Amino acid sequence: MKARYLSLEPLVNWRVEKHPINWQSLFNYKAPLVVEVGFGNGEYLIKRAKEHPELNFVGIDREWQSVWRTLRAIKIQQISNVKILKADARWVFGRLFAPESIQEVYALFPCPWPKRHHERYRLFSRRFLLRLNSRLVMDGVVWIVTDDESYFKWILDQAPNAGFLVSWETIGPGFFTKYENKWKKAGKNRFYKLTLTKEIHHLLGEPEELGLRTYRIKDFSPDLFSPKSMREDVVVEFKDFLYDPARKRAVLRAVVIEDEFLQDFWIEIRYTGEDWIIRPYEGCGWIPTVGTQKALDLVWESVEGSLE
Ligand SMILES: C[S@@+](CC[C@H](N)C(=O)[O-])C[C@H]1O[C@@H](n2cnc3c(N)ncnc32)[C@H](O)[C@@H]1O
Repeated sequence: MKARYLSLEPLVNWRVEKHPINWQSLFNYKAPLVVEVGFGNGEYLIKRAKEHPELNFVGIDREWQSVWRTLRAIKIQQISNVKILKADARWVFGRLFAPESIQEVYALFPCPWPKRHHERYRLFSRRFLLRLNSRLVMDGVVWIVTDDESYFKWILDQAPNAGFLVSWETIGPGFFTKYENKWKKAGKNRFYKLTLTKEIHHLLGEPEELGLRTYRIKDFSPDLFSPKSMREDVVVEFKDFLYDPARKRAVLRAVVIEDEFLQDFWIEIRYTGEDWIIRPYEGCGWIPTVGTQKALDLVWESVEGSLE
């Protein structure tokens, strides 16, 4: 298979890095940190990184297409001051960036989710702005460019009391990104630029990162096994269950959603020769969160119940 991304070197394996990430050591170079959210094809991220070798850039996008296109351009243009995170930005800031560590966060033409019942998907909610505030240095900035008037007004409504001085202006094109081109072709030539400058620091409780509690049980009956899904603050849905009687090993697929973070991983229930161990299956990319623990707890509770 031809690797269209050319090199994975700038891609950060955030599942194995210690949280928050020590960006300085990843870049091997101490410099102010600038983060682009939703870089799309990466045109502006790369342009800026080239123009500013004195800054370190982190691009976040949740789509593979965006990631591989940008990785490819980074390699071809031999840029060393950009790292890429393939992740959901709503989850990333609280976990992967230390408080007061970022100089600037920006987003170009973020998805406006124009339908009223889709508003909850909009990224720059008050909650997200508070999270950004806690990660920015004092006087650090968030700036957002959008073509969408209702999204612009909505962000203005979200901003009060999030610790920012807010200003805005209308600007012309000049970023040369895919979406800017798209709007230009549609005849739009004025965009809203919102600038939020941090003036009050908001302390945000750190999301809990856990040492996971795994379980050992004396007996396990696959036929009686029927763990219950849960839909509360944390959602845990159990899906496929596979059992290999020759190896005395079962795997159960769990989908866990907490805040806006989704994990899809396997839990193994394996005979050790003496007892059975319940734990997340190595190699499927889970990370230890309250939700991961909850999934293990539910499996254990259901097994304990079925043994009574
Ligand atoms: C409308 S496109 C704009 C892309 C680019 N900035 C441009 O101007 O062409 C929005 C981008 O944000 C990404 N995105 C949307 N929601 C995201 C989220 N929660 N976390 C990370 N990336 C997200 C999408 O994958 C997409 O690449």
